[in-house]
Amino acid sequence: MQTPISLDTLATPCTTAPPVRGAAPLPRRLRGMLSLDDFEDAARRLLPRSVFAYVSGGCETNRALHANRSAFTQYDWVPRVLADTSRRSLATALLGREYAAPFGIAPMGISALSAYRGDLVQARAAAAANIPMLMSGSSLIRMEEVAAANPDAWFQAYVPGEPERIEALLERVARAGFRTLVVTVDLPVSGNRENNLRAGFSSPLRPSLRLAWDGITHPRWLWGTALRTLLRHGMPHFENSQATRGAPMLSSQALRDFGARDHLDWSHLALMRRRWKGALVLKGVLHPEDARKARDHGADGVILSNHGGRQLDGAAPALRMLPDVVAALGPDYPVMIDGGFRRGSDVLMALALGAKFVFVGRPFNYAGAVAGEAGVRHAIGILAAEIRRNMALLGVQRPAEVTREHLREATG
Ligand SMILES: Cc1cc2nc3c(=O)[nH]c(=O)nc-3n(C[C@H](O)[C@H](O)[C@H](O)COP(=O)(O)O)c2cc1C
Repeated sequence: MQTPISLDTLATPCTTAPPVRGAAPLPRRLRGMLSLDDFEDAARRLLPRSVFAYVSGGCETNRALHANRSAFTQYDWVPRVLADTSRRSLATALLGREYAAPFGIAPMGISALSAYRGDLVQARAAAAANIPMLMSGSSLIRMEEVAAANPDAWFQAYVPGEPERIEALLERVARAGFRTLVVTVDLPVSGNRENNLRAGFSSPLRPSLRLAWDGITHPRWLWGTALRTLLRHGMPHFENSQATRGAPMLSSQALRDFGARDHLDWSHLALMRRRWKGALVLKGVLHPEDARKARDHGADGVILSNHGGRQLDGAAPALRMLPDVVAALGPDYPVMIDGGFRRGSDVLMALALGAKFVFVGRPFNYAGAVAGEAGVRHAIGILAAEIRRNMALLGVQRPAEVTREHLREATG
């Protein structure tokens, strides 16, 4: 049974104490983790170069990846003072329920390669913190197991292009108990991740001497994640890209299993809306007109995203598109966002521009690699503590009270 974390009673993160009051003492390897970026540095040392490249990389020139970070510098904060912020709460309503913070864990495929049972680690940490965890359809752990570990997790699907396969997949997702379905639409084909190939990573994974050496020279990962997985659970398979178990990670069949996604059009969304009874969210939207179409086809929300800069190089950072999308859909529609969020102030900036919720990807993946569930919990605590501190510095009691009035365009 998990010890729930209260994100509203956070102590200041420091090198020895956990950022969450009442939590177990911090494992030694987490003591130097003071910001989400610290997890990236630690994961770079711990993971084989190929695995780290898969998680950290963008595509082609990495322009979209870097733009996701620099987008946050286009505004300065204008704080308000003497506002009595002593009763601050991070609690945030989204899609009919209340979460403990305005952020969640973005879906990440193959998370069980960087952390032992990576999806479960993220799912359990998110459940303990009462934040949403989006389970990837490209995952190596069965969706039924993740739903059992966290009944509030959302399921992200890369739906195949064929209607009968879509329907069968949705039936399985519903049977597993998921209530929120996220359909990712920015992957008609895979982005050109040449950086992965340069670092020795491919999907399906191709065994090579170089890959073996990469593993041997990272013994903590080799024993703690790779061999432990193989010995206890056998060769990982893509478990959730369709209604039945997919191909093993090393099989060239894996690619074919994903189906013809470049056939997808709005009629497929209409079909999913008819078949899926729970909340339906479209992920990977950037154009205001597409966001409006998603709403008109019955989507309950959209996640603005350029897929962490991993798909179309040079695709606009979602933060830059946010004001136009919110203007197109009005202030009440659940517009969510991801891409490059690393600080509490980043999360608050998106809320100030009209987003209802923010998702964070890579840092939680690194945190799981560094210290499993404790690592992800710690990362959640750090981000929540930053938001809580910045709410006081901005003069607000609730995340939703941050508005465009707290920002000005940065000049010079
Ligand atoms: C290793 C990795 C795997 C990903 N796999 C998926 C996936 O399976 N489905 C999906 O919709 N997005 C996937 N994404 C994109 C993320 O959901 C998210 O859009 C992006 O990582 C957010 O940017 P951030 O990592 O800078 O926070 C993946 C991203 C990474 C880094």
